[in-house]
Amino acid sequence: MEVVKEKARIREIVEEARAAGRIVGLVPTMGYFHEGHLELMRRARAECDLVVVSLFVNPTQFGPGEDLQAYPRDFDRDRGMAESVGLDYIFNPEPSEMYPQGFSTHVEVEGLSDILCGAIRPGHFRGVATVVAKLFNIVPAQRVYFGQKDAQQLAVIKRMAADLDFALEVVAVPTVREEDGLAMSSRNIYLTGRDRDDALVLARALRTAAGMIEAGERDVSEISEAMQGVFDALPSVNLEYIAICDTIYLQPLEELHGEVLIAVAARVGKARLIDNMVFEVE
Ligand code: PAJ
Repeated sequence: MEVVKEKARIREIVEEARAAGRIVGLVPTMGYFHEGHLELMRRARAECDLVVVSLFVNPTQFGPGEDLQAYPRDFDRDRGMAESVGLDYIFNPEPSEMYPQGFSTHVEVEGLSDILCGAIRPGHFRGVATVVAKLFNIVPAQRVYFGQKDAQQLAVIKRMAADLDFALEVVAVPTVREEDGLAMSSRNIYLTGRDRDDALVLARALRTAAGMIEAGERDVSEISEAMQGVFDALPSVNLEYIAICDTIYLQPLEELHGEVLIAVAARVGKARLIDNMVFEVE
């Protein structure tokens, strides 16, 4: 496995592979790998001839006062993990390589970027869409892999890829969880002591919803109230939102029908956590 720092070099490698008829996969990440990242990489490894993981802690998607400086980093460990799943290249640019002096173009996915997490983190999805569009151009892969864990990010990227005519397939990979149900996240490292137990409330609320849907409940407000009740039982956790919406436009649903996204966000101690489940409702 080779570490590449320059845009021109990784593009050349990928273009050569494509010219030779090979299928190229890209897995965009910010590093500090866990099983969720590895699952994306394994899926890409299984489906593509050449796999590039990008590792770049993207400054433009962090707001003022967010955790850009504190964001966990361990390049040597990440390199070992990527190598263990048989990846070909890590693209690991410096911020100046991605955002040189004078950089001033951004990608704004309207409608999807200022709701849910976007309402709480203004500018976040603009930063995500911009860096991902750049990565799609720098690493011209046919298949790109994203986690269902970040459901709104997935919706934003699918919209952007369609709207801007990127000739690639966006592959969604199911959420990988710890044994007790906590969705894996690089930010789980912020959870110490009691916060780690409290964090289970997100998955617990989602399981409550799942149980109700399974039992035939179709009333959105009943489900939302029951989930709210799960959070109310744990006042140390600050719930940001419970959303019951469609998976494409992320618009609230009045009736459960078709593909339904139930998403939650909450602050637990120093961490801001998100989780979701997708249901196919008859
Ligand atoms: P990062 O948080 O490092 O996540 C990289 C990819 O891993 C994302 O597609 C995310 O959805 C996926 N992922 C994270 N936790 C997961 C889990 N528990 N199960 C399955 N997949 C999981 O998301 C980003 O980086 C950035 O915003 C990025 C897209 C790289 C743009 O900077």
